[in-house]
Amino acid sequence: MSSSFSRLGNYVKQTYPIYIANKPVTASTNYLNVIDKFTNKHVSTIPFANKDMINKAIEKSVECAAPMSKLTSFHRKLVLLQIAEKILKRQEEFAEAIVVEVGKPLADARAEVGRAIDTFTVAAEESVRHYGETAQLDISHRNAGFQSISKRFPVGPISMIAPFNFPLNLCAHKVAPAIAAGCPFVLKPSDRTPISAALLGDILAQTDLPEGAFSIFPTELQDAPILSRDERFKLVSFTGSPAVGWKIKEDAGRKKVVLELGGIAACIVDKTIDESKLNHIVSRILFGAFYSQGQSCISVQRVYIHQDHYARVKQLLIDGVKPLNQRRGDPMNPNTFLGPMITENDAVRLEKWVSSAVTDGAKLLFGGKRDGSIFDLTILENPPKHSDVSCKEVFGPVFYIEPFTDFKEVVERVNSTEYGLQAGVFTNDINKAYYAFNNIEVGAVVINDIPSVRVDSQAYGGIKGSGLGREGIRNTIEEYTELKLMILKDIGNI
Ligand code: SIN
Repeated sequence: MSSSFSRLGNYVKQTYPIYIANKPVTASTNYLNVIDKFTNKHVSTIPFANKDMINKAIEKSVECAAPMSKLTSFHRKLVLLQIAEKILKRQEEFAEAIVVEVGKPLADARAEVGRAIDTFTVAAEESVRHYGETAQLDISHRNAGFQSISKRFPVGPISMIAPFNFPLNLCAHKVAPAIAAGCPFVLKPSDRTPISAALLGDILAQTDLPEGAFSIFPTELQDAPILSRDERFKLVSFTGSPAVGWKIKEDAGRKKVVLELGGIAACIVDKTIDESKLNHIVSRILFGAFYSQGQSCISVQRVYIHQDHYARVKQLLIDGVKPLNQRRGDPMNPNTFLGPMITENDAVRLEKWVSSAVTDGAKLLFGGKRDGSIFDLTILENPPKHSDVSCKEVFGPVFYIEPFTDFKEVVERVNSTEYGLQAGVFTNDINKAYYAFNNIEVGAVVINDIPSVRVDSQAYGGIKGSGLGREGIRNTIEEYTELKLMILKDIGNI
């Protein structure tokens, strides 16, 4: 694939180090080649950590558990603010790295960097907020005189495994709360996108976090299970595919596990919506389905439209997608909306899924074609229930529409998949909004916007096949800490 656009910046370097116990390391026994996802050219090289390095990283994180837990809250806050500030100063460098390593359009990459700055800033704020409780325990005559004070303590060394689709902000969502909670960590970025994590490592290495507080490196495939199995870790935090996530849980032994997995996000457009709002709703749906090539766990995959609005919304979607689909090409061009998929194989997979849905009876309203690793923005109508696009996460720029007439029935349709991450409901009826909130089986219901909304301070995570536990800074700090009680007897009696 060739680019006629003259590329900006040129920040991306030929080599990056990994970080073992806060120190950059350039030499290893094997190296990872990072490919520019648009040009398909090899742009950078970064070491794989070998077994000895991984072992050293874990050993040092164990030694660092006590010093990390003893850092004062204001010290943690300062470190987190320094990190946010340094990302801000290097925002274009990060954005360019994300464009190159993911193939994500520049506007989306810049938005991700802005979000990562928010993530570290909110973690700085949360690091000085400690929530404990006192409780009276005299619940019966047997417990007369008892009360308790509770406090949260860091769990200890954390293993973190991050995905390719937000290579900076999804690392930030693991790293920032760990610093706020006082936990050392070992972070493995995706081997498709290790540059953003290496840049983050460079920034962390400039802080005064104690030795062993962090290690950041990709591993070869055969070594990756060490990160879920090694018993010196007290928690494993994984974001990625459901198949890998649930296997990690099986392997994790006594560790706590936080899993952020996939979704088949649905969006409802209810009868009560005013006609004048439909243009706006359609532009939000197109954005939610197609930004970053649909490579987000909460990208819109299913849209259920009330019969009264169906014909109009369908036409607006078809009209709206055409100009977006033309803005394709080099993701480094600020005008590009549609860039390459993470691999050509993923584009080939989408091509197969769409064509088999059509063979089985779906109507292709727009798109469906592939040009190398770029896959058309694609809209389907009424795919059969058993088709891949209906029951698997597409993780690409494909969604489908279906009409409905009964709100309760469509909520059942939303719940009919094995996933439950987020859903969006456009409605003017507060009762339907509450009905959706009470009955849709997901981690969050977004009222009057798309399911793809994620505010970085919000609790984020799914139920059913979509995961376990919650991220979002305050919630992650809670996951990364253990509650301990001091139970007091006859205190205060004099
Ligand atoms: C994800 O793909 O789960 C992350 C979505 C986001 O942070 O916006």
